[in-house]
Amino acid sequence: MKIYVDTPEKTAEAVAKKYVALLAEKPNAVLGFATGSTPLGLYAELAKLCAENKISFKDVSTFNLDEYLGLDGTHDQSYRYFMNKNLFEKIDIDISRTRVPSGIDTDPEKAAQYDKDIEAAGGIDLQLLGLGNNGHIGFNEPGTPFGSVTHIVELTDSTRQANKRFFNSIDEVPTHSVTMGIKTVMNARRIILMALGKGKADIVKKFIQGEVTPEVPASVLQLHPDVEVYLDFDAASLL
Ligand code: GLP
Repeated sequence: MKIYVDTPEKTAEAVAKKYVALLAEKPNAVLGFATGSTPLGLYAELAKLCAENKISFKDVSTFNLDEYLGLDGTHDQSYRYFMNKNLFEKIDIDISRTRVPSGIDTDPEKAAQYDKDIEAAGGIDLQLLGLGNNGHIGFNEPGTPFGSVTHIVELTDSTRQANKRFFNSIDEVPTHSVTMGIKTVMNARRIILMALGKGKADIVKKFIQGEVTPEVPASVLQLHPDVEVYLDFDAASLL
């Protein structure tokens, strides 16, 4: 794993440059995107670069990591809505080539189809990840087998508590989600994980320097050949 530490602003700029380089080399790349507050600076930077004609997503296909179960794409807390508002509507992407797992389909067989669709698109060239406070990637909570493909999960209390800030009350936070599995993520050719803020310092140390274990889902990244980790000074403070 390569680790880069800087301010949140410089981190967003540095990661955006990686997309510029990748799309210059492979304009029809397949990108795996993530939600959460962490990638917002990056998405703003990508939108800015696109407006300045320094990057184009015209031939890109995308697959998002996860979605809440029970929320359709028009719900303002769905990840489809998040992606449309924070990135897709601000860049020159063909919206029909953007995929977010369905929050409405609860058939487990259909969830696994997502992996097949990724494979049919040629596999993910670059997967972006955030990091949950408990080490989750996507919504792969502690204990998720490393061999998992896209599947439906029950969210832990700690994740629901962490995400309730976006909802009116804890009762409105969905109890389940659909997420790419650990294996789906590990199949990506390249991975960039971003983590910002003091609140992530403990789990950052654990997943980078601790044991590789399903109890810390992000620790599996130690086994991937091409992972870059972008941290701000606070998130890196315990390394
Ligand atoms: C959610 C998402 C994750 C994300 C995590 C961290 O639970 N499912 O993909 O990485 O939150 O969010 P934040 O970036 O807001 O800290």
